[in-house]
Amino acid sequence: MAHGQQSIAIIGAGQAGGRAAEALRAAQFGGALTVIGGERHLPYERPQLSKSMLIEDAAPKFIRSAAEWTSIGVDLHVGANAIGCDVERRVIGLQDGREFRFDKLLLATGTRPRRLRKLENGPVPVAYLRDLDDAVALRGKMLDGCRVLLVGGGVIGLEVAAAAVLRGCAVTVVEAADDVLAQVGSATISAYFRKLHSGRGVSFLLGLTAAANVEGGAQLSDGSFCAADLILIGIGVVPSLDLARSLGLPLESGIRVDRSGATEIPGVYAAGDVALQWSHCAQRWMRIENWANAQDQAASVAKSMLGGDQPYEPASWFWTDQYDVNLQVVGTLNGVEEIVRGDAAGAKFCVIGLRDGEVVGGATVNSPKDMAVLRRLVSLRKRPSRSDLENPAFDLKRALAS
Ligand code: APR
Repeated sequence: MAHGQQSIAIIGAGQAGGRAAEALRAAQFGGALTVIGGERHLPYERPQLSKSMLIEDAAPKFIRSAAEWTSIGVDLHVGANAIGCDVERRVIGLQDGREFRFDKLLLATGTRPRRLRKLENGPVPVAYLRDLDDAVALRGKMLDGCRVLLVGGGVIGLEVAAAAVLRGCAVTVVEAADDVLAQVGSATISAYFRKLHSGRGVSFLLGLTAAANVEGGAQLSDGSFCAADLILIGIGVVPSLDLARSLGLPLESGIRVDRSGATEIPGVYAAGDVALQWSHCAQRWMRIENWANAQDQAASVAKSMLGGDQPYEPASWFWTDQYDVNLQVVGTLNGVEEIVRGDAAGAKFCVIGLRDGEVVGGATVNSPKDMAVLRRLVSLRKRPSRSDLENPAFDLKRALAS
């Protein structure tokens, strides 16, 4: 393929879109490269939104400056909404009427927060946290003494809980499931984090949700009342599929792609949070909504778009920092046999998930070195002996030789 003759358009200027553009240029793609993003900001990585920006009022960090994007020949349009795509004419239409032609297209449209509309129009201010503007607005509201009600005890809810405590707020988390961090799939991890936050004064209301936004707080699903000056909703995300729809792609819980990131339409690819990928660990199609996937899958898809054989094997890996505790999770712990190494009530331990003897997931609390090994065990599909893993004196690295 004469790369220099082709043009590529990327819709979505988040981490996946930005990284893919960089990877295309790094792979010597010489054709026209257009990136279109709806947010008015240059591409940035999201972990900072619920961490440094909320806790330390840090300034946002961008992947590159505008001049640096220009210097690698990326025609970047931010604050630009792509509203339709004609795959026959190979043209993208923007809301402002402009059109861009492409030979190949990468959809990196990401996700947006799942909303609880019934709470949005009451007397108590309601916030979501997904983009940079949300983070700046939220920290301006989380003032000393503010009573914050967090709806959803997932990663976002708990990271905001930690930030709010550190900012002097009084925090309550209302979670529909019977414990926090239910998505991680480990009762051990959920209990650890609930206790961590309880020790910092956070109150938990489990098995409940917020039903109405009323004067001075929220009415909960059991009819009780929780006082609040601010309600933050963190109940997961939904994929942004409007463009996939305009292309005629099947509407699923994401844009289904193969190992090279290709959709069922020739020349159209998807990357990042919006891509629906087959996960060997989880044994199901899933969106892999984390930093590592946005980084690595996007770079891999970029190479595939240029004709390289780049099969990507997704193994979900993410981390979260809450107070002085670092949690990292790889693969899945849902429905697995769980082995705990170390003291699950102590400062440092790890959990290993086995399915039919194969390591398919793991979580580490304050032990990143173990996570480095666990990630390799998962990606190499290792089957170490259960008794070795259960032996606290066994050096986990030796399991790599199993
Ligand atoms: N009321 C209370 N809790 C609810 C409700 C509800 N109506 N609906 C869902 N929940 C709970 C879920 O049980 C879950 O524990 O909200 C939590 C949402 O957790 P996640 O799915 O992890 O989503 P969130 O925390 O919003 O994170 C969104 O950002 O950090 C990234 O990768 C992360 O994809 C994730 C995204």
